[in-house]
Amino acid sequence: MMFLKRLGEDIDAVFERDPAVRSRIDVVFSYPGFHALVFYRLAHAAWLRRWYFLGRFISHLGRWTTGIEIHPAVKLGRKFFIDHGMGVVIGETAEIGDNVTVYQGVTLGGVSLDPGKRHPTLEDDVIVGAGAKVLGPITVGKGARVGSNAVVVKDVPPGATMVGIPARQLIAESKRSEVELPGFAAYGLSSEGLSDPTANVVEGLLDRVQQLSARLTSLEERLAEGERGYGASWTKSHQQASASAAEGKVRD
Ligand SMILES: CC(C)(COP(=O)(O)OP(=O)(O)OC[C@H]1O[C@@H](n2cnc3c(N)ncnc32)[C@H](O)[C@@H]1OP(=O)(O)O)[C@@H](O)C(=O)NCCC(=O)NCCS
Repeated sequence: MMFLKRLGEDIDAVFERDPAVRSRIDVVFSYPGFHALVFYRLAHAAWLRRWYFLGRFISHLGRWTTGIEIHPAVKLGRKFFIDHGMGVVIGETAEIGDNVTVYQGVTLGGVSLDPGKRHPTLEDDVIVGAGAKVLGPITVGKGARVGSNAVVVKDVPPGATMVGIPARQLIAESKRSEVELPGFAAYGLSSEGLSDPTANVVEGLLDRVQQLSARLTSLEERLAEGERGYGASWTKSHQQASASAAEGKVRD
């Protein structure tokens, strides 16, 4: 019963987060992300009963059918949505909260061979963009967004947006507070002005270089004018001195 309830919620999640969805029947028959969850929930139930071979085998069938690999030991919350899905890999000790969304090509992977916790934890409402890799036993805080193709190797604060390799946090123009954590936005896009901190630094440096080069040009011009003025006054005084010397000679 609980199994069917969870699957019903998984279908609801598609309606909440996929602008392209048309009907529940479409989801049941044509959404690999949903199929992967059916396989995962069966495999996980087997795993919890210590039927490890069966859990692993069901998980393998799921991967074969959908191209999505979720280890049966993964702890998964409610309303998980995998959009498109092909190439998603979720490792054994990963933990995923409620209302989390991941796109195709996402890896929640490990970076060590330690048998303990070695995969990430995604808190509620996290969105992970296509092709992103979240690596190691790190935590991605509630409502955080990971940009497509980012590689996240450190903890991510709640509500943060991470892009790049290694991932760095985009800075919000108007700082968001804990209370104002965003609801779901398709593809993780925000209407709020965010900017790339590295790009900001480069822009600042370029501005400074332009200012300095303008100052240098003006100093060079003033120096050249000064030299011209000094040269002209030197020539004039030299001519006057020569003329008066010549006058003196004539008088003698
Ligand atoms: C990261 C993301 C959530 C940010 O969205 P947003 O809040 O609307 O931010 P913006 O588009 O305004 O971008 C803000 C800055 O981040 C940069 N940026 C955005 N996404 C980026 C990414 N994936 N990698 C590197 N930089 C990125 C932008 O170039 C911009 O930089 P700038 O300030 O120098 O101009 C979004 O771009 C993203 O990657 N979403 C995932 C989408 C996805 O996977 N779709 C698959 C559908 S099948």
